[in-house]
Amino acid sequence: MKIDIQTCRGIDRPIYILEENRLRNNLKLIQRVAWEADVEIILAFKAYALWKTFPIFREYIHSTTASSLAEARLGLEEFGSKTHTFSPAYTDYEIDEIAHCSSHLQFNSLSQYERYHVRAKRANAEIRLGLRINPKYSEVETNLYNPCAPGTRFGITADKLPSRLPDDVEGFHCHCHCESGDDVFERTLQHIEDKFAAWFPQLKWINFGGGHLMTRADYDVDHLIYILKEFRARYPWLKIILEPGSAFAWQTGPLVSQVVDVVEDHGIRTAILNVSFTCHMPDCLEMPYFPVVRFGKHIDVNDQSGPFIYRLGGNSCLSGDFMGYWKFDHALEVGEPVIFEDMLHYTTVKTNTFNGISHPAIGLLHKNGELEVLREYTYEDYKNRMD
Ligand SMILES: Cc1ncc(COP(=O)(O)O)c(C=O)c1O
Repeated sequence: MKIDIQTCRGIDRPIYILEENRLRNNLKLIQRVAWEADVEIILAFKAYALWKTFPIFREYIHSTTASSLAEARLGLEEFGSKTHTFSPAYTDYEIDEIAHCSSHLQFNSLSQYERYHVRAKRANAEIRLGLRINPKYSEVETNLYNPCAPGTRFGITADKLPSRLPDDVEGFHCHCHCESGDDVFERTLQHIEDKFAAWFPQLKWINFGGGHLMTRADYDVDHLIYILKEFRARYPWLKIILEPGSAFAWQTGPLVSQVVDVVEDHGIRTAILNVSFTCHMPDCLEMPYFPVVRFGKHIDVNDQSGPFIYRLGGNSCLSGDFMGYWKFDHALEVGEPVIFEDMLHYTTVKTNTFNGISHPAIGLLHKNGELEVLREYTYEDYKNRMD
């Protein structure tokens, strides 16, 4: 069906809409960085795993990164290539299959390496092994997303690394960013080099993790390319890998919901929607991340002037399943769309069926304006998960 993506009128159920045009623009930019800087950029499934769209990705990139057996299988079976895998802890019951699905396997600790490196090689003789390092420097301010916060469970710090690496370790993996800019990468890189460059002659590759938000409008892409080329010039034998997730799906489409009721208490008016923050936009409550609502102006709690001010509430029984406040230019009516911008990355992989609430459908808006519904969810999806 054809839709007007601007107003989303005529849609009567919740749906995430991925806009192919926007996705391709991100992919083109990422491909340019990879090409000009001579690095490999791979997709982190933790941020985006809508596998029916992988054929589009394959036109621009060749590989992916996994953090679990399920993601590693998805990479091999649906993306068509073995994954670069990192998990904080592999297990006896999954390591062989993970190794089979992976081209690169990165260990979070020396004890995990000791426990599994032989088994991994036995399961996949071609596999390349690496260690996650932690430079103890990250500019991520929200501790929930800061892998270098004191007491971190991620990576090996320089003081714990033997001067001679085990013979079968050929790479380092380092993830310290979250929605970060090129300037943050430049400063962080300085710390990585200060602490770990002594080991670089023993390596073949280095993976600088995710969080490089190169598709954000204010990101200086040419500066990123410059930083990467300079790094290459200093260590020409090192292959560089970046594994962003958000950057691929950044600003590629909304979650479209509809108003189902309007209630009021203590002068606070809440428009209740047929979606839920805790079920369908969990980062909004976790991060917390304030969503942008199309045609709504976010206003401060103390600035409640004007008639059409609403909290937006989810349809779960969680008391805190709401956010506020937004100002509209008219009274919200039952059935009208409320459109949350930029809801493809992370949201689509983190949703749940708490309360049995219907999961929004997933749609792909093709370049010709045709909306293809990739997936609708039914009672069976809810029920089967708890078989
Ligand atoms: C190890 C690792 N790699 C890649 C990513 C993807 O990061 P982003 O989606 O912010 O680019 C993450 C995110 O947490 C991560 O932990």
